[in-house]
Amino acid sequence: PHAFYLSRHGQSEYNVLGKIGGDSGLSPLGDAYAKALARFCRDEVTKGEKGERPARLWTSTLRRTRETARYISHHSITIDYDQDDVDHAQEWVQLRPVAWSNLDELFAGVCDGMTYEEIEKHYPDEFRRRQNDKLAYRYPRGESYLDMIHRLDQMVFEMDRHREPLLIVAHQGILRLLYAYLMDMPREEAPYVSIPLNTVIKLEPKVYGCDEKRFELLR
Ligand code: G3H
Repeated sequence: PHAFYLSRHGQSEYNVLGKIGGDSGLSPLGDAYAKALARFCRDEVTKGEKGERPARLWTSTLRRTRETARYISHHSITIDYDQDDVDHAQEWVQLRPVAWSNLDELFAGVCDGMTYEEIEKHYPDEFRRRQNDKLAYRYPRGESYLDMIHRLDQMVFEMDRHREPLLIVAHQGILRLLYAYLMDMPREEAPYVSIPLNTVIKLEPKVYGCDEKRFELLR
């Protein structure tokens, strides 16, 4: 089985301000990560034994993930393929970043765009309820981790459908769930998994779970 590479978007303008959600672009540091990620793709994700190898690239539909993927080149690939495998090869050659709304971050509803301090101040009961059951807690007019599990069902199927390595550029909440799924972790633990910025997590599937390696691209 192929490897999965999981990456959060580079630091966003909202990350700098400590706000959750929104649809901000990258900060200068986030842009530096986007460039480092493009180099990482070239040197690792698309590096095969004989030159470049096919790979896939997914983002969410939000600006911060699409900007994080923007320096990754999509056209530098030529592959040797058998005549009877033409369909497959064309599918790859046309590959561009695919943006999936299923990979968008947990939507915080009325709390979208707030800092955690603001949420605690304006909605103290909600804040406490979330601390007591982070997995099932649903923001007013927003989502819960359980809601995200539902919209990831389709992605999990798509993830296993092809044989090329797959780089997913997404968000902390979403990646916690994909990580927990790939690592065979109980889902109650998923909302607390550490998915740091500026880091690519490589997961190579085994019969149960995955071998894991983390690459910190910016220090
Ligand atoms: O805005 C969503 C955050 O990235 C998810 O973090 O579930 O720990 O609040 P949290």
